[in-house]
Amino acid sequence: MEVRLEPRGPLRGETEVPPDKSISHRAAILGSMAKGRTVATPFLRSLDCLSTVSCLRMLGVEIRLEGSALVVEGDGPESWREPTDVLDAGNSATTMRLLAGALAGRPFLSIISGDSSLRSRPMGRVVEPLRKMGAAIMGRDGDRLPPLAIRGGGLKGIEWNMEVESAQVKSAVLLAGLQAEGETTVRGGLAARDHTERMLSLMGAELSFIDDGVTVRPGTLQGREISIPGDISSAAFLLAAAVLVPGSHLILRRVGLNPTRAGFLSLLNTMGAMIAEYDYEEVDHEPRGTLEARHADLRGVAVDPERVPTMIDELPLLAVVATQAEGETVVRGAAELRVKESDRIAGVCGELRKMGARIEELPDGFVVRGPVRLRGAEVDPRGDHRIAMALAVAALVAEGTTTIRGWECTEVSFPGFLQLLETGLTR
Ligand code: S3P
Repeated sequence: MEVRLEPRGPLRGETEVPPDKSISHRAAILGSMAKGRTVATPFLRSLDCLSTVSCLRMLGVEIRLEGSALVVEGDGPESWREPTDVLDAGNSATTMRLLAGALAGRPFLSIISGDSSLRSRPMGRVVEPLRKMGAAIMGRDGDRLPPLAIRGGGLKGIEWNMEVESAQVKSAVLLAGLQAEGETTVRGGLAARDHTERMLSLMGAELSFIDDGVTVRPGTLQGREISIPGDISSAAFLLAAAVLVPGSHLILRRVGLNPTRAGFLSLLNTMGAMIAEYDYEEVDHEPRGTLEARHADLRGVAVDPERVPTMIDELPLLAVVATQAEGETVVRGAAELRVKESDRIAGVCGELRKMGARIEELPDGFVVRGPVRLRGAEVDPRGDHRIAMALAVAALVAEGTTTIRGWECTEVSFPGFLQLLETGLTR
């Protein structure tokens, strides 16, 4: 599906963004590993999260969508059954990597695969630690690529030093560790999102935090009610649009403000955006609050590579924002972007250049020189939801019409983004 976007007037009004995708996945998986009922509200009904739900159903978990909630009647991982077919994680690496960790503890065969994008994404990073814990696990291309075949059970706790700052790897090892004999320690990964650790302790797991990591002891999770905040990664598109389009004034309520996810917000402020944050509260171990953004003049920034994990999914959008900022914006230390849903460095640089951006590709990031007046063009987000939505924000400040191909990819994280942009806000 192709969408055509024109530059538009200011974004004005107040809205909520969809529930957090990372937390929704975790509520479904941890709820399915717990004993008792978990009710997670509101649950994100995007394709990625629905992939997680359908995999869990194939494992025999009683799990249903009721209104805006996800209800899981958990009976512990011991109740999971060998699936009779291949588990399909769709486009979602979170589904594949977190479930690989959980399935490493189960004494049956499961095979997990996904779409062509997911089948090209690195899995050695979860295969290695899970194998060290005792799971039999194999994949394509020397065990580096999906599909993964897992025959788990009989796990022993390990100490694992993370090579990449990845929340998905950290989570996979912790979910296996919960079912292992003895303690499991993950070192590193402190800057990567910590939703798994927060939800594990909410559900009664024995976790201890050490200087450079976290230790989990085997145990049983308790099902419970979980309130899910709005997704800051979805909010980011609206905030960026408000900051870029003159006359905008936007209020977003109950947005998740977990510090391991909020890097883009503070970066926008460093660039001059002055986004206000209020009504701060912590609910079910996750902070949330209201964000208020207005149009602002921005200046370029050099991103601290250590902060990259806290804004990893927002970097394609940062490239767009940087085209409108005065001076140079430099992103380095972000080579992980090349192994996301697409090669996001190549994708965002290639497509923004078609719109007239001055952007240079680096092996581990990019350099943008601004400000430039973007011009509408025909662009291809390469099947990647975050690039598609970043290009839609670019279209709002470009001269003429921008045509974005393959818009349907946005369904994996932010169904209704276009409608919200077009009609959901009062102008
Ligand atoms: C996610 C972790 C990040 C992020 C992805 C969601 C998660 O990936 O890019 O969109 O929910 O754990 P990595 O853990 O591979 O960095």
